Amino acid sequence: MKNWIARLFCRGGGAGIDRIIFGDCQNMKEVRDDSVHLVVTSPPYFNAPFDYPDLFESYDQFLELIRNVAKELKRVLDEGRIAAFVVDDTLINGKKYPVVADITNIFIEEGFKYREKIIWIKPEGYIRISRRSGVLVQHPYPMYYYPDNLQESILIFQNGDFDYKKIPDEVKEASKIDIDKYQKEKWYLNIWNITNVLPNTNRLEKGIAAFPDEIPHRLIKLFSYEEETVLDPFMGSGTTLKAAIEYNRTGIGYEIDLELLDVVKEKLKVNQSTLFDKNRDFEITIRDDVKHLRTQLQERVKNNRKNR
Ligand SMILES: C[S@@+](CC[C@H](N)C(=O)[O-])C[C@H]1O[C@@H](n2cnc3c(N)ncnc32)[C@H](O)[C@@H]1O
Repeated sequence: MKNWIARLFCRGGGAGIDRIIFGDCQNMKEVRDDSVHLVVTSPPYFNAPFDYPDLFESYDQFLELIRNVAKELKRVLDEGRIAAFVVDDTLINGKKYPVVADITNIFIEEGFKYREKIIWIKPEGYIRISRRSGVLVQHPYPMYYYPDNLQESILIFQNGDFDYKKIPDEVKEASKIDIDKYQKEKWYLNIWNITNVLPNTNRLEKGIAAFPDEIPHRLIKLFSYEEETVLDPFMGSGTTLKAAIEYNRTGIGYEIDLELLDVVKEKLKVNQSTLFDKNRDFEITIRDDVKHLRTQLQERVKNNRKNR
């Protein structure tokens, strides 16, 4: 397939041109050095049985992807800026893979500062696949303890030191954080209680392991200024881009699975004149290295469920 670029909808105004690139984010050649102000993303959960079964040949291959992306992010992120990774350890056939620790180490090795870890807590009603605590109810003795998992980590890496004096006063003022919300919703804690995207069968993000809008909303408010550029290298359904547009930032997203094109267009209302009441430019690029993943993954997930 030839590379092609489609300017799908142009309405001018707002921040810069929002870009959606279908291709492998290990190579982000479309993004200039030092041109991104914030990264908000969530990589595929390593071979998780109910999201990405057998997507990677090995754990090493997954870590290699993360390392290559970290190198690209080091190149495209401006000095002092943040890459926020929403991640969790993965449990496969009773073996736990230390994804959070390994990603942290990779980013440190690639020259980032490890600035913060926020724990995202989901409501207790939501225990999707990892309901393991029943083992102890059946065997109420020591050593049968397997807790249910309600958390994920939001790792915050920083690309060197940030020059606070570089930001003009009027930009600071326009990007001011709502302190009432900050207090009321307890953004000041390193534990965030946020409801996950609920697994309704008809939801737009079915089979994507999307994070809720509230996560990019907070991160964008806390770590970027108006009209700056926010990148999501693992775009999925486009939640980060949607939040970026809502907060008057420019969005860039990479996604390897071309089967998500319609979902992304629907979420971002590409070609619909009602896009968040704002005038936006969208540029969609489809590269030669795209894949077709979702149908295949969903088939494997179905089989996994049957065989449980
Ligand atoms: C956990 S999902 C992201 C979901 C997203 N945060 C959302 O809210 O919809 C990870 C995404 O990364 C994509 N992906 C996996 N490998 C990739 C690669 N090498 N380059 C770009 N995207 C990739 C997957 O297809 C998947 O859609």
